Amino acid sequence: MKLSFALAALAGLAEGTITYVDQETGFTFSEYKAAYSLTANIVFRFALPSNAPSGPYNAVIQTVVPNQLGWIGLAWGGNMVRNPLTVAYPNGQKATVSSRWATGHTTPTSYTGATYTLLNAGNKVNGSHWQFTAKCSGCTTWTGTSGSVRIAPTSSSRLAFAYSTGKASTPSSNTSSIPVHDTPNYFTNDFSQGLNPNFDALLQRNGVSDTGAGAVFVDGPL
Ligand code: HEM
Ligand SMILES: *[C@@H]1O[C@H](CO)[C@@H](O)[C@H](O)[C@H]1NC(C)=O
Ligand SMILES: *[C@@H]1O[C@H](CO)[C@@H](O)[C@H](O)[C@H]1NC(C)=O
Repeated sequence: MKLSFALAALAGLAEGTITYVDQETGFTFSEYKAAYSLTANIVFRFALPSNAPSGPYNAVIQTVVPNQLGWIGLAWGGNMVRNPLTVAYPNGQKATVSSRWATGHTTPTSYTGATYTLLNAGNKVNGSHWQFTAKCSGCTTWTGTSGSVRIAPTSSSRLAFAYSTGKASTPSSNTSSIPVHDTPNYFTNDFSQGLNPNFDALLQRNGVSDTGAGAVFVDGPL
């Protein structure tokens, strides 16, 4: 039995991707609850456009993280090395999201191939959790170890995540150093459960434009 499945079973947590409609932002997300201990999980949510072009396209990522954790990371290609790493840590009443890349099993450096913009809604901290919601330009395509990779919006693919109870040294900075993670883990997310026909309009409703998906201009002039 896989460790992740064992943890989820012991914790009585749902295993698998579901569809989650977020009332605050209006986005429909594919949602995976990734168990990292017997009793706790990190919720990962992904909203993609239904009408994504064949090249680069934007995504919205939302996570809900127990306050016990000082940082979390999502590896879009399913391992640490040579894929976009979304790293986040709480900073006061919001989170700082940082774009990283690793060429080995050492502290990842800044990655300019992916950029993040926090939405006006869906970013908050309360007594138990911190949550961020951001547009990512550059998370769904990259050049990996064996060439070009593109997450197909209608597919399931294997992702990886990392986390630590240790805190970022400079939480207000997106280039803060972070301590090494605890044991990383993997999950398969079914992105097709979070497709949005009105992706651009929802971004605009949340104060963000759908430009800058990478090398190309995605959905026409706004
Ligand atoms: C903060 C500095 C970091 C250091 C020093 C570090 C170091 C390492 C090391 C040594 C391993 C191998 C563990 C083993 O073989 O047992 C590893 C694996 C892994 N790390 Fe990191 N890491 C760091 C940050 C990150 C970040 C930000 C992510 C973001 C998701 C990440 C994701 C992973 C994943 C998914 C694995 C397992 C898959 C693989 O081997 O590529 N790491 N890391
Ligand atoms: C930090 O934020 C700046 C301004 O938005 C951005 O240009 C830069 O790429 C970001 N760096 C990282 C590592 O996320
Ligand atoms: C705290 O925030 C999280 C994430 O937004 C939410 O799931 C949880 O219900 C909130 N808890 C309380 C007590 O409001």
